[in-house]
Amino acid sequence: MQRKKFIKLTGATGVFTMFGGTAWLLQSCNGQNNMDMSANSIKIMQGYFSTPLPSPPAFDLKNTTAFETKQTQVEILKGKKTNVYGYYDGVLGKTFVVNKGDVINLQFTNSLQQATNIHWHGLIVPSKMDGFPSAVTAPGSTFQYQFSVNQRAGTYWYHPHPDGLTAGQVMQGLAGFFIVRDEEEAALKLPNGDSEIAFVILDRRFKSSGDFDYTPTNEEVMTGFFGDYILVNGAYNPYKIVKAGWNRLRIINGSNAEVYNLAFSNGQNFAVIGSDAGLLAAPETVNDMLISPGERINMLVDFSNSANKEIFLQSKTFDGGGVQGKEAFKILKFAIGEKTNEPFTLPTTLSAIEKINPSAATKTRTFDNSNASMHGGGMMNIKMDTEDTTSKTGSNMGEKGMNKMKMGMHSINGIAYDAAVINETVTAGATEIWEFDNSKGIEIHPMHFHGNHFQVLERKGGRGRLIATEKGWTDTVLLLPGEKVNVITTFSQLKGKYVLHCHNLEHEDSGMMLNFEMV
Ligand code: C2O
Ligand code: CU
Ligand code: CU
Repeated sequence: MQRKKFIKLTGATGVFTMFGGTAWLLQSCNGQNNMDMSANSIKIMQGYFSTPLPSPPAFDLKNTTAFETKQTQVEILKGKKTNVYGYYDGVLGKTFVVNKGDVINLQFTNSLQQATNIHWHGLIVPSKMDGFPSAVTAPGSTFQYQFSVNQRAGTYWYHPHPDGLTAGQVMQGLAGFFIVRDEEEAALKLPNGDSEIAFVILDRRFKSSGDFDYTPTNEEVMTGFFGDYILVNGAYNPYKIVKAGWNRLRIINGSNAEVYNLAFSNGQNFAVIGSDAGLLAAPETVNDMLISPGERINMLVDFSNSANKEIFLQSKTFDGGGVQGKEAFKILKFAIGEKTNEPFTLPTTLSAIEKINPSAATKTRTFDNSNASMHGGGMMNIKMDTEDTTSKTGSNMGEKGMNKMKMGMHSINGIAYDAAVINETVTAGATEIWEFDNSKGIEIHPMHFHGNHFQVLERKGGRGRLIATEKGWTDTVLLLPGEKVNVITTFSQLKGKYVLHCHNLEHEDSGMMLNFEMV
């Protein structure tokens, strides 16, 4: 059933297949290695798209004071049971739908066998509420999450963030939507009700037992871990019945590593209206759009010419993504019904977005994402076994974390993550430019930081331009190999510790994260 992504190596890499240790790292983690990226070959398993798209239920925040993460079983593949983690009975979590200004006050219970915490991705919350990697809730313990939502409408999400355990826990199903509404957005009267569809795209591998298979090898920690089954809201190859009119899609890429190049099977255009942190200033009509792990797209798509037809949302191939983008596949089937008479015209403007003037920046920080430590001194502190330790712990994900033994395979500025170290100190309220530099890198890195949204100023190298989802407020920006991206933000007044990291979760857990403290 399961076919693994494999990477063919060329050149002096015979050692690669024989040992998993340091020799391998030295060869493949630096910028000039011998990986033949074109030889990557994952085969996505495509089925019949006969399962209705499930939607996680909305959280009843008025009558709920507590929630819990636990392990339960669900049927994802026909006739098989999959052990999953979720924030209720099943995979994923309930959807938070709140208005700007609402207060969250919930007691969280960790009923898993391992420590966890919750990060509210894209929400600007105090450090203590943000899911800092070493601030975890022990098995059987509770934590009170309490914060108010004072930010733009948008499609945010939540997932665990424990040091070294994030990738494995997300892989088991821990993720949920956090949708914020506000008056500015409501005034636009965008398609809603049945025509507003939120879904998260996840790629997974399965064992023959039906359980998720998460046993990344060294090379899969380098590239990120890819699945051969594409799940949408936890369902394999689902379909959604929609109206033959305008629909609003809120899409999260909740995959650990896979970048999707979203497009429709009939070749039609769609309008990108929002990115990670809410609406764009104006819609931008495109034919396809990359979405990297952690990112969200809000789009409006007009199916009015396709009554009684089927259209697939698919991922098209793309260039420049290292091992990524080599295969096209279907993600979700839209079964389009009769034409509606609900009139809707695409607005010409969406949101007032004030551009931060780069001259307001008091500091520019540079973050090298090329993993230069692999051919510098950074290897010194790395504890590595000479064989793949993860395959033995399998998907039990021991307390130490799947990738703890891989710590140091990734870094920022040559330094692998240490929860106890403050790498950068930022003055609360300051305006700064942060430059992410993957110009010598060979992997993709969706860079994300907590506690603040940012604006993307420019991309040099690679694609050399900004794409639609980078033209408003955002919190995650993709760097393809060869790219350098500048972002600007005015930091909030929420003093405390936050993290900057790559949202390729194998990269994150193996060291590609740092702490910054707002003082
Ligand atoms: Cu969704 Cu720190 O990440
Ligand atoms: Cu985040
Ligand atoms: Cu990365």
